[in-house]
Amino acid sequence: MATDFTSLLADQVGNEFSASQQYIAVGAWFEQQTLPELAGFFYQQAVEERNHAMMLLKFQMDTDRKADLPGIAQPKSDFANAKEPVELALAQEKRVTEQITALANAARAESDFQAEQFMQWFLKEQVEEVSSMNDLLKIIDHAGSNVLLVEDYLTREVAKATGGVDPTAPPAAGGAL
Ligand SMILES: [Fe+2]
Ligand SMILES: [Fe+2]
Repeated sequence: MATDFTSLLADQVGNEFSASQQYIAVGAWFEQQTLPELAGFFYQQAVEERNHAMMLLKFQMDTDRKADLPGIAQPKSDFANAKEPVELALAQEKRVTEQITALANAARAESDFQAEQFMQWFLKEQVEEVSSMNDLLKIIDHAGSNVLLVEDYLTREVAKATGGVDPTAPPAAGGAL
């Protein structure tokens, strides 16, 4: 497997779309359990991952690299309980952090300072993503057998969140959703 920045960047477009697809599958599973807040949380995460992919795609095009879209693997869409998909999501975010770190490393090794600068936002974003998935997993544990407490938690926290598009984020192809 190639480890140069351009190859890793192409792989990462697929990784982010895979993450998006996985979060749609998780959201749909929660919706089928009639847990709308958890469903909404993961549908929103799916949009963010889609935007990450479109930011990478935009950078590929802006830097005159090839922008061939890769295929993506089938996501896991069946779970035994509410904790399982959240554990899967946390593992996914930790894996993405490793992928982003490898990209930052490759950019530096190649003295590609534009690429290195581009990756900075993604490094910061992964701190937030791992942290929020860690928080959700802890809340699932606190709630024990009553997942409705997680729904209450998300209702409160979503109401508090300011939301909106991050003005420091790199531009996404076609504009961020
Ligand atoms: Fe992402
Ligand atoms: Fe993520």
